[in-house]
Amino acid sequence: MASKLLRNTIHRMLGLVPKNPNPNFPPKRLIAPTCEALSARLYSDVARPVSIDPSLPEKPPIDNGTTVDRKNLNKGSTSSLNEAELAKFAAIAETWWDAEGPFKPLHVMNPTRLTFIRSTLCRHFRKNPYCARPLEGLKIVDVGCGGGILSEPLARMGATVTGVDAVEKNIKIARLHADLDPLTSAIEYRCTTAEKLVEEHKEFDAVIALEVIEHVADPAEFCKSLAALTVSDGATVISTINRSMRSYATAIIAAEYLLHWLPKGTHQWSSFLTPEELVLILQRASITAQEMAGFVYNPLTGRWSLSDDISVNFIAFGTKN
Ligand SMILES: C[S@@+](CC[C@H](N)C(=O)[O-])C[C@H]1O[C@@H](n2cnc3c(N)ncnc32)[C@H](O)[C@@H]1O
Repeated sequence: MASKLLRNTIHRMLGLVPKNPNPNFPPKRLIAPTCEALSARLYSDVARPVSIDPSLPEKPPIDNGTTVDRKNLNKGSTSSLNEAELAKFAAIAETWWDAEGPFKPLHVMNPTRLTFIRSTLCRHFRKNPYCARPLEGLKIVDVGCGGGILSEPLARMGATVTGVDAVEKNIKIARLHADLDPLTSAIEYRCTTAEKLVEEHKEFDAVIALEVIEHVADPAEFCKSLAALTVSDGATVISTINRSMRSYATAIIAAEYLLHWLPKGTHQWSSFLTPEELVLILQRASITAQEMAGFVYNPLTGRWSLSDDISVNFIAFGTKN
């Protein structure tokens, strides 16, 4: 009996609950969407609901200048926005450059992410990865740039960088920080969305969105916007977290609840994509995934490294068809 209860609880946590004969139990808000529902959502291009928890306010009180200004945007320009997710980032925007703060995992992962980006972009664009400014001549957009943790080293590597984020506070912090160094002060930061840049007919040699897709309202639409921003035969790089048992244990239970690396509730397990799902939605957006790598953490050294293990954190490099 106890083991059945435990098994049912785990299944519910993972969204693997079969149809319940009693439609009122358990309450709907306790159940994550089933894998079947998630696949249906991904493969049918239907927009994701803003939140799976109806007890959350329909519109969190953040539309007061903290996020992208909707008045100047068409409906299509905001289709990737998930208000509840943006509210989480607006709340901790001041901490972007605190290397020991909530964004510590991104700071620590950054050198490893940059290794992947430098090697894939240099190979694709036939550039020398060993020179001082290997990305010289490339126009890159960093979508969901946050405080600019990635935009800045891309600029130092010689790229012409545009950083965009839907949270106004993030863009302000990014601007202030980039202005501290002449090598990064040329970065163009804008509070906007990828969809809005598409409307403006912007195009880039490389479009990068790291740790963003799990926070957007509709991953398939988001990838279509990323593809539309990429020049023909240009590059797209996306990193995210796999929807696996291991990611539930490490990226949520360990990182948020045991080690307190991230604020509780930073990630919704059901919003993660498997590598197969990401490859599929990229393919449907005319981007062919060419290379993928996992990030693994070594608790002894406190460092991340690239690996074939894509069971938790992974990064994909694709080219526009
Ligand atoms: C986990 S942070 C990643 C920041 C940065 N890419 C990095 O890896 O260092 C996710 C960022 O995406 C932004 N974001 C979420 N949805 C967005 C959207 N639809 N359009 C633009 N930015 C978005 C958030 O405001 C936040 O700054």
